[in-house]
Amino acid sequence: MLEEQRFAEILIRWQQRAGRHDLPWQQARTPYRVWLSEIMLQQTQVSTVIPYFERFIERFPDVEALAAASADEVLAHWAGLGYYARARNLHRCAQQIVTVHGGAFPKTAATLAELPGIGRSTAAAIAAFCFGEKSAILDGNVKRVLCRVFGISGFPGSTVVERKLWSLAEALLPETGIGTYTQGLMDLGATVCTRGKPDCDHCPFTAACVARREGRQRSLPEARPKRIIPERRASFVLIVDAHQRLLLQRRPPSGIWGGLLVPPEGEANALLEQLQLRAPLRQKLPHLLHTFTHFRLELQPTLCRIDETPEIPPGEFVWIALEHASDAGVPTPIRKLIRRVASVLG
Ligand code: ADE
Repeated sequence: MLEEQRFAEILIRWQQRAGRHDLPWQQARTPYRVWLSEIMLQQTQVSTVIPYFERFIERFPDVEALAAASADEVLAHWAGLGYYARARNLHRCAQQIVTVHGGAFPKTAATLAELPGIGRSTAAAIAAFCFGEKSAILDGNVKRVLCRVFGISGFPGSTVVERKLWSLAEALLPETGIGTYTQGLMDLGATVCTRGKPDCDHCPFTAACVARREGRQRSLPEARPKRIIPERRASFVLIVDAHQRLLLQRRPPSGIWGGLLVPPEGEANALLEQLQLRAPLRQKLPHLLHTFTHFRLELQPTLCRIDETPEIPPGEFVWIALEHASDAGVPTPIRKLIRRVASVLG
């Protein structure tokens, strides 16, 4: 396994030779410019960010100018970058820096991380680039690099794996050259150790990388585990009378479909008996699968046709013309079921 000390040495040398050195925010590395670029670069690519960064700096050249601007104007300069909460936090952050910190950015990652929109990794990046603090970053790109080079299994968004990655990221930090090192991690993740097609032939860790050695570049980092959701079954009885009316029942206020009109749920014989109806024609219809947030429901419909035109039964039942029933405020899967009945009878 790659020694922790060696990782930083190799990365720093690679950054100097093959990393990026002419990004706009690398010139005049003031906290304001670095902060702005780091926020813009969250979930957005460098090539998209550059023109926005330049327009932003031109209109709001320092944190005071940004703090004094209107929220509308800040948002207007952000328009197109997406994730607009970033712009609102940016504006609030600028105002706090002016009002609480006298216009100067705090100089430690811990204090920076208390400001709106600045998470642990962004705070570390600003502190490393601007104040030389030996502080670890861990964004999506860095997680990918570490999971591959050190062969870390498990979904990196899980608490356990994330904690492991933070400790590793901290153990890898160099004694000197934190700025180059931090930029190297970002550059490697963005230009070489990419998600889809990692360019292992140009990677400085090609000999040491666990994923490369084991051919697991595609399966590391691991994907978010698929949620296992329980499956339930429910039978519904679709009773249609001689006048093509469908029997619906108002659901109790709590539980799924609370208060909505739905064909009665339950076993066909029992229900027909309860309602004192005779249904000579019965037909099981194909099942229908519907996914709710917390479970999947398999609806098992039985169509029962009765010869009579019964009175409106008392209580929570109503007869509704089949052609109007699917518009009677019924839930989506029931609407599908009703359309299916209509087509069977049509
Ligand atoms: N992604 C996030 N921060 C970055 C930076 N400072 N340079 C390049 N890519 C980045």
